[in-house]
Amino acid sequence: MSLILSPSLLSADFAALGTAIDMLNDSSADWIHVDVMDGVFVPNISYGFPVMEVLKKRSYKPLDVHLMIVEPDRYITRFKEAGANILNVHIEACTHLHRTLAQIRKEGMKAAVTLNPHTPVSQLEDIVSDADMVLLMSVNPGFAAQQFIENTYEKIARLKELILRKNASTLIEVDGGVNLDNAARLKAAGADVLVAGNAIFSTENPQETIQLFKEI
Ligand code: DX5
Ligand code: ZN
Repeated sequence: MSLILSPSLLSADFAALGTAIDMLNDSSADWIHVDVMDGVFVPNISYGFPVMEVLKKRSYKPLDVHLMIVEPDRYITRFKEAGANILNVHIEACTHLHRTLAQIRKEGMKAAVTLNPHTPVSQLEDIVSDADMVLLMSVNPGFAAQQFIENTYEKIARLKELILRKNASTLIEVDGGVNLDNAARLKAAGADVLVAGNAIFSTENPQETIQLFKEI
């Protein structure tokens, strides 16, 4: 099965945001990955609702929104209104994760749980069946163009095992340092969805790079 590719807008040229969105619309990318950072959960601030409004108007692809914020529960409805199709919340930021996922689904979005690199897959034991997707961070969240953490391959395999054991249909997404050199191994380990920012937007022909990812 072909990988789902979710290019991260964080590496786009914001002076030409519309052009970047049009490029993704015309590409074989499946989703658009939208990284929202609050400067508290992660040591960086990216963008929020105004950028999402532009995306909502101009993009044809599902918006895969990755919330790197504390207290994500406070903003679930606003992200739905802003056009999110998939909402990723960090397990480290949610005290009542079961309730949070239920609220996301109630709003008509896909609910995804994100794990930082240090958070063990075993923490998903009693929640994985309630998530449409698990996002494994393969860098410490906060910045684009960081180096991929090799332990991720093992984590994917452990997560796949858990999903099969629970008879769940949860997708596995991987985010951070993904490129054309490690994508095939990530797919073989069990990844269903790959996020890539720098590996796409730093190339001369991003649409061609997207196509190469899709052919893996
Ligand atoms: C990191 C973000 C990632 C990032 C990926 O905090 O969650 O989505 O933009 O960028 P690359 O692919 O360049 O590592
Ligand atoms: Zn992300």
